[in-house]
Amino acid sequence: MHQSVLLQESVDALITKADGFYVDGTFGRGGHSRAILGSLGDNGRLLGFDKDPQAVEYAAAEISDDRFELWHGSFAEMRQEVDARGQLGQLNGILLDLGVSSPQLDQADRGFSFMNDGPLDMRMDTSAGETAAEWLNRADQGDIRYVLKVYGEEKFAGLIAKKIVDRRDQQPFERTLDLADFIEQIIPKSVKLKKHAATRSFQAIRIHINQELDDLQRLLADVVDMLAPGGRLVVISFHSLEDRIVKQFIRAQERGPVIPRNIPISTIARDPHLVSVGKAVKAADAEVSENVRSRSAIMRIAEKVLGND
Ligand SMILES: C[S@@+](CC[C@H](N)C(=O)[O-])C[C@H]1O[C@@H](n2cnc3c(N)ncnc32)[C@H](O)[C@@H]1O
Repeated sequence: MHQSVLLQESVDALITKADGFYVDGTFGRGGHSRAILGSLGDNGRLLGFDKDPQAVEYAAAEISDDRFELWHGSFAEMRQEVDARGQLGQLNGILLDLGVSSPQLDQADRGFSFMNDGPLDMRMDTSAGETAAEWLNRADQGDIRYVLKVYGEEKFAGLIAKKIVDRRDQQPFERTLDLADFIEQIIPKSVKLKKHAATRSFQAIRIHINQELDDLQRLLADVVDMLAPGGRLVVISFHSLEDRIVKQFIRAQERGPVIPRNIPISTIARDPHLVSVGKAVKAADAEVSENVRSRSAIMRIAEKVLGND
């Protein structure tokens, strides 16, 4: 089962109006969605998103609530679904709890884990797109290197990419443990690692296969248009790249539109679109001791400025 991270803190930050319209962009196993529904009044509504067909099946079987609807797809397409429901500029809150869920990691056949043997899949949306094996067995060496270096901050990205390309024609990559062992053997034994040698590479490949950072950027580009004045964005990230994107986005929205230097700055032009609410929030020690996944979580909250519609 998935243990939701920063559950109470995120729901308290998100809900400002019990009869509002809210979006949970990352339904997972519905931990946050259930808590949101528990805090909403009879006229409140919640629209959930998940890319993973298993999350959709779970929602259909486990949540029966007239105030709730789940849409199968990426949160990057949130704007059109919100618009289709007549809610553009009307949302009271958007929650994102990024990354993978525990069921995704724990099921060996999903291919996310370097601890359990399974097909090298790693797609959150198993109904579409290229698997990790398909990509690794065809991608340019330079692209593999880029993904490992940028998304995994892997020091040995160049070497790992070269060895993958050297091997794959004789013996294509198909299984998670095969790839994990292969990477472990490439990294020099003299290098002291705190985590398994394949941790960074698996994370990088997963981020690439699921276009995780692109989806986040696409969603953020629509946030100001989707929120009602006073509406909130709450994002829980588990990775420094994601958190940097969210932090820089909120900062840019706080500064307001960029004005060319030779144009006099008017009051309107200086208006921010969003303001941060409080500082970044981390899980308390008690939560970290119960759920190790929460240790790397960081939550940021922003609110659409009143009069900005
Ligand atoms: C960390 S889990 C969310 C757990 C959830 N908050 C809970 O309490 O059960 C992340 C979920 O978001 C989904 N997901 C990740 N990126 C997504 C995207 N771009 N669009 C839709 N769903 C996404 C994953 O499939 C996964 O089920």
